[in-house]
Amino acid sequence: MTKLEMLRAEWPHIGLKFLGVGHALPSAGAVPNTYMERLVDTSDEWIVSRTGIKERYFCAEQTNIELAQAAAEEAMSRAGIKPEQVGVCLVATFTPDRMSPSLACMLQERLGLPQDSVMFDLNAACAGFLYGLQTARQLLLTAEPTRPYALVLGSETPSRVMDFTDRNTCVLFGDAAAAAVVELSEEKPYLAICGSRTDNENMLYCSGLADQQQGRPGGVVHMQGQEVFRFAVDIIPHSIEQVLARANLQLADIDHVVCHQANNRIISHVVKKMHAAPEQFFINLQHYGNTSSASIPLALNDMWEQGLLKPGQRIICVGFGAGFTWGACLLTW
Ligand code: ACO
Repeated sequence: MTKLEMLRAEWPHIGLKFLGVGHALPSAGAVPNTYMERLVDTSDEWIVSRTGIKERYFCAEQTNIELAQAAAEEAMSRAGIKPEQVGVCLVATFTPDRMSPSLACMLQERLGLPQDSVMFDLNAACAGFLYGLQTARQLLLTAEPTRPYALVLGSETPSRVMDFTDRNTCVLFGDAAAAAVVELSEEKPYLAICGSRTDNENMLYCSGLADQQQGRPGGVVHMQGQEVFRFAVDIIPHSIEQVLARANLQLADIDHVVCHQANNRIISHVVKKMHAAPEQFFINLQHYGNTSSASIPLALNDMWEQGLLKPGQRIICVGFGAGFTWGACLLTW
């Protein structure tokens, strides 16, 4: 066996240990559906019955980096680690405050992270946090032994890229940040899949520089809801089954499933399709709406705060987003 073959053979046995999770919400407070009724032709009844969302948070003066910093500080404090021990800092986001520098680099300065560690943002839309965990796991292998921890965030301010006259989109999203501190571990099995389909770029997108160049507004989310729905209810069960097959496990062996919190109906559809127990699927989207890449770590944070996460439990996280991208992982708490 070559060294490379040996490394590849050993790599699946290197897992991830979660040391702490944290979160941050806009301080302006929860925005109920009745507020959305004043903006667009909608109703609390429509939003709750079609999505399950009851309220969400929007930043007023706050920026994405402020949410990211608060979430990172909470996660690091709960993990009991110091800034100088962070070897990798990744922020999943499609709504950075500036196109450059990255939120990760801004965090480096605000948190006092080491200068010679790896810091960058990544954009895999709502699947971003799962892409971030997978990337961090690989980067930690080459981190300095004195900096064995990765800080992985999903941090989003979708309210900055909403058309608040478009009832198809503006009622769905909310702002939030959530973070996890992880390290490599042989005791905490972890496996992940990530993928993307590139033939759907107009079904769900946030406009940008090329749109501006062509006379359209940049920085606005567009969505064909039913197409996204169809994709989601196909890819979520498929991803869960793929992860289970690779781990040689059944759904009944899993303690919690954490889907990207986009829509209650999507999750109910998946539960039915997989003949699963509804209580296996954690749901908190009623409080936050769709917070894109922050939704999965925000769910883990709420589960931890509610005392639902016990050492040794198996958790499947599964996300999907614009691209279309998707990702799923099996982690051990
Ligand atoms: N309030 C009232 N009526 C509305 C609203 C609203 N907020 N939004 C749309 N409608 C109307 C439509 O205009 C349409 O009216 P019409 O029949 O007169 O044309 C009617 O409701 C039905 O519209 P549909 O799009 O067919 O509604 P649907 O039942 O599919 O629900 C929804 C829309 C909730 C977006 C659904 O398609 C869905 O859940 N899609 C998944 C997309 C998703 O969750 N995206 C989140 C972001 S993507 C991500 O996270 C990766």
